[in-house]
Amino acid sequence: MAAIRNIVILTGAGISAESGIDTFRGAGGLWENHRVEDVATPEAFERDPDLVLRFYDMRRAAIQTREPNAAHTALARLDREWRGNLLIVTQNVDDLHERGGARRVLHMHGEHLNAWCTACDARSRWTGPLIDRPPCPVCGAPALRPDIVWFGEMPYRMEEIYDALRAADLFVSIGTSGAVYPAAGFVRNARDLGAATLELNLERSQGSGWFDASRLGPATELVPAWVDELLG
Ligand code: OAD
Repeated sequence: MAAIRNIVILTGAGISAESGIDTFRGAGGLWENHRVEDVATPEAFERDPDLVLRFYDMRRAAIQTREPNAAHTALARLDREWRGNLLIVTQNVDDLHERGGARRVLHMHGEHLNAWCTACDARSRWTGPLIDRPPCPVCGAPALRPDIVWFGEMPYRMEEIYDALRAADLFVSIGTSGAVYPAAGFVRNARDLGAATLELNLERSQGSGWFDASRLGPATELVPAWVDELLG
């Protein structure tokens, strides 16, 4: 442990599951019989914008009724107390890491509580629905879409993520199925450059074999225990 200074943590839907937010590929992972891939693409938005906006309106409303759990607050404690570099890269578009108290958080797939104006490119804090095509608070155009990275679009802040992975001594993946790239490949980036790698997940992820160690169980148990260990 003494040699560890730089930590990168990747989180996915599994860390928010015990807060009551559906994962994407679990039993509750279908929405009105649509696969997530069928609503989370630019093509789907072009074909049937109402369907896509309703899907995200529903999820935006839902996350605001949910609370961070013990896994979020344990990571927030690590963020507060860890003296070295630390970056929580989340694929999640909820705000539970922040509401749990974490600060060093990077949302690579965007955020539910932002709207992105396709007319003027501004991003605005947004808590309500988008289905009625409200005007952009910046330019007034009725051109807001969810600020979510859809399949086929480039995740945010990749340079920053790869820089952190290059410098990492420890890479930890929490609550993600390892099905979606580029995030699913981060373990190999970190490992190839010498980082220790650990997976905390309910079940083995698709890339489980790439980790030095896997601990299986619910995030609310595994994450606080791991943080206690790390902080000694
Ligand atoms: P998935 O739904 O694919 O995977 C969730 C993972 O969490 C699974 O491996 C579960 O076994 C695990 N899990 C479930 N409950 C858990 C618990 N209580 N504790 C620990 N682990 C638990 O979600 P992601 O991997 O996050 O992209 O999905 C990746 C991306 O696919 C998402 O960011 C989203 C989606 O399409 C976009 O929206 C762009």
